[in-house]
Amino acid sequence: MEISGGLTTIIPLAYLASAVLFILGIKRLSHPDTAAGGNRLAAVGMLLAVIATLLERGLDYTWIIAGVAAGGLIGAIMARTVKMTAMPEMVAVFNGFGGAASGLVAVGEYLRVSGAETLAIDSGVSIMAGTLIGAVTFSGSMIAFGKLQGFVTGNAISNPLVKFSAGFLLAVALGLAVYLIGFESNLLFYWGLIAAALVLGILFVIPIGGADMPVVVALLNSYSGLAAASAGFVLENNALIISGALVGASGLILTGIMCRAMNRSLANVLFSAFGTGAATAGRAADGDRVATPIEAEDSAMVLGYASRVIFVPGYGLAVAQAQHRIRELADLLTERGVAVRYCVHPVAGRMPGHMNVLLAEANVPYEQLCEPEDVNPDMENIDVAVVVGANDVVNPLARDDPSSPIGGMPIIETDRAKTCIVIKRSLSVGYAGIDNPLFYLRNNRMFFGDAADALARITEEVKQL
Ligand code: TAP
Repeated sequence: MEISGGLTTIIPLAYLASAVLFILGIKRLSHPDTAAGGNRLAAVGMLLAVIATLLERGLDYTWIIAGVAAGGLIGAIMARTVKMTAMPEMVAVFNGFGGAASGLVAVGEYLRVSGAETLAIDSGVSIMAGTLIGAVTFSGSMIAFGKLQGFVTGNAISNPLVKFSAGFLLAVALGLAVYLIGFESNLLFYWGLIAAALVLGILFVIPIGGADMPVVVALLNSYSGLAAASAGFVLENNALIISGALVGASGLILTGIMCRAMNRSLANVLFSAFGTGAATAGRAADGDRVATPIEAEDSAMVLGYASRVIFVPGYGLAVAQAQHRIRELADLLTERGVAVRYCVHPVAGRMPGHMNVLLAEANVPYEQLCEPEDVNPDMENIDVAVVVGANDVVNPLARDDPSSPIGGMPIIETDRAKTCIVIKRSLSVGYAGIDNPLFYLRNNRMFFGDAADALARITEEVKQL
């Protein structure tokens, strides 16, 4: 379909408007108060870009409507049914499908133009980049999904053969791409390039321990953006180039933030097989170390008569879905005149903002949220720190033992509070697979149990005070 004169002006303007909406949306995502509005702005931007693209291309609308209906239905079902704890898996699958979609655009375009003797350099580079990055993103994301879900071993399968094969396949894939662009079209070589890229994606993720999958998922998110930008060049669609570039950049920034919050380099995450060593499950008593248990009644007494309390949520809060329980207890303490705050560590849980999302779901007031640097300097004056299903983010080894796997990671120093109560089911290790000396300190008490159940029992006891 020919584009009419008016549309040639309106479509670029619509793309420009959608790009502005994406950027404003991302900016607003940086604060909990404005995040929901930011999400809506970006969604409107995407709608605008889709409408403009459909007007521009004049495609077969039957297929488009069928695709939108099927995709919309699957998306709506997933959004409603996937548990918060399974978000990293869902993002991994989305990245994989995003990479596959961009890769398929490149494949379609290659098949369309491959009759020509050689590819034009610009479209050739876009097609090869889209194919390579799309395929690596797809297979890598599927392995990441499998590791998070437990289909694929979470152990890091790292040996010289894997590294050599990855290097070899990368060289083969790049060599084939250069040949296909610079010399002649060859369908067999093109399928070879796709196969090499798919195996490369697997070899990229296999050597990384399941513990580091959230960081890998963020990196693959960035790759899916690059694949989309390549597809944008293939289709000569500015909106896709801009949105792909934004996803690529924000995925990379997020990867950097996660690495910094764990005090690890990206190279360390990708090549060190972290968190997969033999986990030393804690014991109630270890030599002369004894963890002192506490029950609901005593916990309620300590909390009910405190002046300043901080709650430190961690991954266990998400597992137990205890966000409403923590708020109920915090509200009750606030009514009694206790100054309550929630201290959220940037990498608590399993994905960026995990704890913020849960606490927002329970309508915890933003002004009660704080960050480690807000409370650590004043920790000696906190009467009770209640650690709810967190482990690594309060592990003093990160501060005291630079040789520890989490050495140097900033922590919430609840070991320096007057009293610390840790709510978890056992003395087991957390994500990093290392023991936590906090559990055995004199000022620490262990409340053994599921976080939701433990908080409900403490709340009932506080009501009796
Ligand atoms: P973890 O260190 O993983 O500890 C979570 C603890 O929750 C476990 O020790 C577990 O102990 C407890 N737990 C599990 N289910 C529970 C339940 N139903 N009730 C009560 N407790 C329960 O969590 P964290 O302190 O939040 O630290 C996060 C870790 O993930 C860090 O090492 C971080 O580097 C890593 N990480 C985070 C991210 C992001 S972006 N958030 C990304 C990559 C890596 P029991 O089994 O004894 O109950």
